[in-house]
Parts: sequence; C-alpha cells; structure tokens
Amino acid sequence: MQNIEPIRQVDPDIYAAIGAELTRQQTGVELIPSENYVSEAVLAAIGTVLTNKYSEGYPGKRYYMGNHHIDTVENLAIERAKALFGAEAANVQSYSGSPANQAIYMALAKPGDTIMGMSLPDGGHLTHGWKVNFSAHYYHAVQYPVDPETGFLDYDVVAKLAREHKPRLLWAGHSAYPRQLDFAKFADIAGEVGALLIADVAHISGLIATGLHPDPVPYAAAMMTTTHKMLRGPRGALIVGKEEHLKAINRAVFPGLQGGPHNHTTAGIAVCLLEASQPGYRAYCEQLLANAQALAEALLSRGLDIVSGGTENHIVLLDLRSKNQSGKVLSQVLDRANITTNANTVPGEIRSPFDPSGVRLGTPAATTRGFREAEFRQVGHWIADIAADMENEQTIERVRNEVVEMCSRFPLWY
Ligand SMILES: Cc1ncc(COP(=O)(O)O)c(C=O)c1O
Repeated sequence: MQNIEPIRQVDPDIYAAIGAELTRQQTGVELIPSENYVSEAVLAAIGTVLTNKYSEGYPGKRYYMGNHHIDTVENLAIERAKALFGAEAANVQSYSGSPANQAIYMALAKPGDTIMGMSLPDGGHLTHGWKVNFSAHYYHAVQYPVDPETGFLDYDVVAKLAREHKPRLLWAGHSAYPRQLDFAKFADIAGEVGALLIADVAHISGLIATGLHPDPVPYAAAMMTTTHKMLRGPRGALIVGKEEHLKAINRAVFPGLQGGPHNHTTAGIAVCLLEASQPGYRAYCEQLLANAQALAEALLSRGLDIVSGGTENHIVLLDLRSKNQSGKVLSQVLDRANITTNANTVPGEIRSPFDPSGVRLGTPAATTRGFREAEFRQVGHWIADIAADMENEQTIERVRNEVVEMCSRFPLWY
C-alpha cells in the first residue's frame, strides 16, 4: 500500500483527490488501451529522492556534479532498453511520447521536409503529421488512410503516396488500429523512395518485446515507445535504433529540446524494463491478446460492429456507424457504469471528430489486474447491454453494481 499520509498532513485537498482517484481505479473497468497499472516497484521508484537531482547531459558527460548514482540508473535503463528490443542504441530521457517524436523530427529531418504518417481519424497519432500538431506546422505532412471498407491498411496506397510525395520520414505506428503492422512492407516502401522508416510503437511495444508482433527494429532508423502503456512503466518514453541515428537523436533530446532529465522517471523506466524482460511479462502479453479476442467475439455475438471485423492486438474499435449512434454518448454512459473508454473516430467516419462513431477499447489495464477471457466476455456483454438502450437507468445501475462486484474480486495492489 502506497503511503500518501504525508500529503494529507500538508495538503488535504490533493490528498482527497488522490484518494478519490484511487477508489475510481479500484472500482472501475479500465478499457482505455493506452492506460495501465504500474507495479508497486515502479510506483516506488518514481516517488524517490532522484527527483531532487539535476543531470543535464548523458552518463559520464554531465554539466552538474554529483551524478555518479544517476549515471548508474540511466545506464541501467539504457542497457535494458537495448537488450529488450535488440537495438544498437537507446535514449531514455524524453519527457513523454510527443517530445520523443519531436526529437526524432529534429534529428532526422529539416523544417519544410515532407513526412508521411497514418491519418489521425483513421488511427494515427497527432505527431505523425495531423494538421493541428507541430508535425504539420513545421513539416509538409502527407497522411495515408486506412481502407474505409475493410478497416485494414492498404500498403499499395501507402506506396503510391510515398512515390508521389517522396517523404524524408515515413512513420509507421498508430493509436487506434486493431491490426498488426507489416514493418517489412513499410521498409520496402521507405527504401524505394529514399525515406527513413520511423516506428512509433507506443501502443504495441510490449508485444514487440515479447515476439508477439512483427519487429521494426531491423528496419527502422529509430523506434519510439512511450513507457506508460503496455510496458507498465512511468509516464515517459524511450527511443531505440541504429547508433548513427541515435547520436543525432541524443543531441536533439538534449540540448536540442530539453534540459535536465527526470531521473525518478528514468529509475521507473529501468524497473519496468526489468519487469518486461521476465517470463511473466510474456504471459501477460499473451493473456491480453487472448482477452482482446474474447472481448471482440462477445461484441460481435451481440450484433455490434468492430473496425476490420476483429483484432490482432490489444485494441477493439467499436464502430457504431450502422446503428447511427454516437461514440461520445456511449462512452459517457459507460463511464456512469464505471467502464472507462474513449470516443474515437473510425475509418470512413460519418460524424464529427468531436462526436465520432467509434469507441476505443483495450485490454492492457484490466489484464494487469487479473481479468481473463471470461471477465472480458462479461465486459463485452455489459457494453452491449448499455449500447442497446443508452437511456435505461436500470441497466446502467445494474451494470455498475456488477462492475464494482467484479473489480472487488480483482483488487489493485495500491
Ligand atoms: C502512437 C503514439 N505515439 C505517441 C504518443 C504520445 O505520447 P504522450 O501522450 O506521452 O505524449 C501516443 C500517446 O497516446 C501514441 O499513442
């Protein structure tokens, strides 16, 4: 149990908010695919005195004295990142996924260069060239779509756009695509047009580390992952890749974009990477994949549509277009039943980005607390019960009571 008592004595308001959030996490089913529960060891690491230290620079080359122990921590994180992903070099200092991607742009492209990434409404990330993001302000961004009929990426379309636009960087990665990425095909396309392939595996890095998803490391100039999603680490990011490119990326992270690294976070990253290298972590990843299958099957059996008709990863993207329902409203009603999701656009979206037709579901968090196929089938049926009549207060209350009861059988360790 984490000791937050000192906070109560100093700041009762923050203490109360943290306590209420803990209760929310304990009593609800977390289905947002980018969230997870860190281990007690990771949580302890990020709440340590390492937060007190300034360490601008890199191990052995710091601008501040007193960094011997910080060097130990950062070197362990670097070595573990390289070993887990089989990469030549690693940087573990980026404050989060978006700044890590910014560092990759700064290192490997010049402002005004053309870059290509998956369109945000089709499942890509903001930083892959979406119009409101820096990546579209400072670079000429071309977005490739997902086939609106099948929900699958069409690599011929990606290749055609790449031939036409000749990007400097080709981004392969997603925040809401339920199928595997074929990095070998991406590499062929990048090779043909002289682009550098950048893999953003924020969502799927656990599957890559455990051999349950094709591996981009042999092909990519750099691979970025956040550490707080499937990897079950603190909020942060790491970049691995080829030595030649990592030199430039290191310079972009510091001094290009950042000052002192968050050493307490680096320690948490080191701990989560150690945990991810142990056999239990592969079993966890296998289970979250099996759970996604169970969730998808339950939803399909109740007549609901999901993008691409299934899943090959941890994401199930509910598609409400044929029912003409709002994903935003469904996610709000599910929230009242203690099932946490987010509204999401779907390929071929017919509503607005602010009120889209999809709801994004994922299995990493609830799998961490111990849910298996039977529990995920039940989750699918709860969602279907609520989607069938979103105004039925009795159903919402019944589901909420059942969710609280199930969560009490799978308590979190905090
Ligand atoms: C594919 C992908 N890249 C980058 C990011 C950005 O990470 P952060 O939110 O830590 O900036 C995310 C976050 O959801 C993501 O899904």
